[in-house]
Amino acid sequence: MNKPRILIIEDEKLIRWSLRQRFEEEGHFVDEAETGPLGLEKIESTVFDLVMLDNKLPGMSGLDVLRAVRAVDEDIVILMMTAYSNVEDAVEAMRLGAFDYVSKPFKMDALMLTVGKALETTRLKREVRDFRAQMKRQFGFDRILGQCASMKQLFDMIRDVAESGASTIFLRGESGTGKDLVAKAIHYNSDRANRPFMNITCTALSESLLESELFGHERGAFTDARQQKKGLFELADHGTVFLDEVGDMPPKLQAKLLRFLEEKTFRRVGGVKDIQVDVRIVAATNRDIEAFVAAGDFREDLYYRLNIIPISLPPLRERGDDIRIIAEFYVDQYATEFRRGPRHISEEAQRKLMSHYWPGNVRELRNTIERAVLFCKNDTIDADDLVIGARAPTNAALSTHIPPEGVSIQDIEESLVRRALEQTDNNQTKAAKLLHLSRDQLRYRMERYGLL
Ligand SMILES: Nc1ncnc2c1ncn2[C@@H]1O[C@H](COP(=O)(O)OP(=O)(O)OP(=O)(O)O)[C@@H](O)[C@H]1O
Ligand SMILES: [Mg+2]
Repeated sequence: MNKPRILIIEDEKLIRWSLRQRFEEEGHFVDEAETGPLGLEKIESTVFDLVMLDNKLPGMSGLDVLRAVRAVDEDIVILMMTAYSNVEDAVEAMRLGAFDYVSKPFKMDALMLTVGKALETTRLKREVRDFRAQMKRQFGFDRILGQCASMKQLFDMIRDVAESGASTIFLRGESGTGKDLVAKAIHYNSDRANRPFMNITCTALSESLLESELFGHERGAFTDARQQKKGLFELADHGTVFLDEVGDMPPKLQAKLLRFLEEKTFRRVGGVKDIQVDVRIVAATNRDIEAFVAAGDFREDLYYRLNIIPISLPPLRERGDDIRIIAEFYVDQYATEFRRGPRHISEEAQRKLMSHYWPGNVRELRNTIERAVLFCKNDTIDADDLVIGARAPTNAALSTHIPPEGVSIQDIEESLVRRALEQTDNNQTKAAKLLHLSRDQLRYRMERYGLL
């Protein structure tokens, strides 16, 4: 915030004058209004960081002004002033959304402390608003590339679902098809966009940690619970919780999640009180969840409850020309990022892209293009620059199945290293931790696979 702008709405000239003196000493910009209507006019035409509002104004009262401001602007921070502590008005002002209440005659130092806090609140509110606006741009539907019929259908569907009151959405699709992207797009294009989006991967934590992450815990609920903690469902109230890899949720939590979906209430771990929240659950899995149900590893009733609004993301290999569109997009992006020349994909290379099976879907395509842009010698990416086909699909690498024929242990190791780096945004320390390696061991492998 540059020079904070403060508006004083106050009929007594002497008070306006003394406040102005003090604020200007602090380097603030000050504007004044003698009456409510004049103040409202100024608020409409200028952006203020703080409004100091007298309670007893001639004509339109301070509370009326407060109501009028709130009707058009929910965010502006207002500090009420009154000649004598009038508890009822104070309560009413706070109820109407005033930031705080100060009584005259002012103790200037205390007043300035409150003003400082109010200005900080304004700064934080703006920061949150800017951050959300940025997220909305970043996770708009236009960031999800796709023009084929099935993607168009998907866009229609997620747009409808985002705007609807649907409380549960189930995203299906192979690894790398864009489930994360869609989950965020749904949130940031819904009327929940200004509330939190919370993301948790059900496989990343042990059962008891996951339970307390999701539902919170009471103090003393277990040995380490020194303090009460709110879970994601509470923190995300009026927002969205993205439950990734929901198929791997432990049975005990499946039961608790089902109860939550049906009744909208839950208890913190160790708690006896039912807590009610309004969150939308977007659940996702890249697994064959029907097989989990058949094997008794996933509750059938929960499956039906989640599956009310299923959204399936098609595998990349079925998206036709979208493969080329996405490839070109990432060529541009990486060429800019690495300050590299290549901007074209040769026809032969295009054919190679179109005929690959893409087990790792868009993520695999993206990684392939990243490598090609890095290693390509001139400004055209040729078929030879595309290293595809021989590598293990990322998912096979993380599952415990025997690798398919033609895939070596090294391939799997390489794809694990790549995946760990990708998941940690190339943070070597974190990636090493994920892989249970020392940083040196990781770097040794990165060097071996040309990832350094
Ligand atoms: N339609 C698309 N257009 C552009 N980029 C995409 C598209 N779909 C996916 N991506 C990119 O591909 C990568 C993988 O996508 P994402 O993480 O959403 O996949 P996922 O379905 O969640 O995979 P997993 O099941 O492994 O979690 C991301 O970098 C994402 O930005
Ligand atoms: Mg994902």
